[in-house]
Amino acid sequence: MRPTATPTIEVHSSLADAARSAAATIVQATRDAVARDGRFTIALAGGETPRALYERLAADAGTDMPWDCCDFLFGDERCVPPHNPQSNFRLAWSTLLSLVPVVEARVHRIFGELGPAPAAVDYDTRLRQIFSRDERTPSFDVALLGVGTDGHTASLFPGDHALDERERWAVPAFAPVGVKVHERVTLTLPMLNRARVVLFLCAGAEKRSVLTRILSHAAPELPAAQVRGVERTIWILDREAAP
Ligand code: 6PG
Repeated sequence: MRPTATPTIEVHSSLADAARSAAATIVQATRDAVARDGRFTIALAGGETPRALYERLAADAGTDMPWDCCDFLFGDERCVPPHNPQSNFRLAWSTLLSLVPVVEARVHRIFGELGPAPAAVDYDTRLRQIFSRDERTPSFDVALLGVGTDGHTASLFPGDHALDERERWAVPAFAPVGVKVHERVTLTLPMLNRARVVLFLCAGAEKRSVLTRILSHAAPELPAAQVRGVERTIWILDREAAP
């Protein structure tokens, strides 16, 4: 499946405004998916930026979202226990999933505490139970992603073997020295590029340089530059991060 969407870019005056727009986009995508398929699947992002979005979704989308029709998965996870402050699951659970009426069996945590290899095999197996094996069938309705200053997204880091994976849907990944939590599990490019909508949420002046390179197509080798949605790719930025 070749990603075909031409990226669209939104620039907002603040992270709070960017989060508000991202939340509205997700609510609409949920309505569309539930009307079309009777369910909505999203891969949630980690790091710090999504906090504002998760809090907004929990605060605003209470009645608008058919929470019981949603499957919540993760784009990546650090290999730490779920209660660890570095856990991507912990961020989503504490700021959103524990505050709205989700079906807990439809929250598909990556068991990072097992270690990168067993956790990746387990997650890959569960993904294949949730999504069709037919590569022509889109995977997630939305893949929510952030971008690191080195151009990584999910836990696909420049130079890491995980970036080269073309068969498996989830693999072990290893962050470079200096990045919090070395051992990780990540969705692969083939799996991310099957998402109907890829939604990048980025904020902060430290992201401007890498986003300028990515959005001007000057750095096609960077992981975040290689991810596009089948139907739409949306970059939602605050003014500080915008090229
Ligand atoms: C992770 C994230 C990662 C994140 C970027 C940006 O597990 O670290 O999945 O891809 O989105 O590192 O992180 P910030 O939002 O904290 O800048």
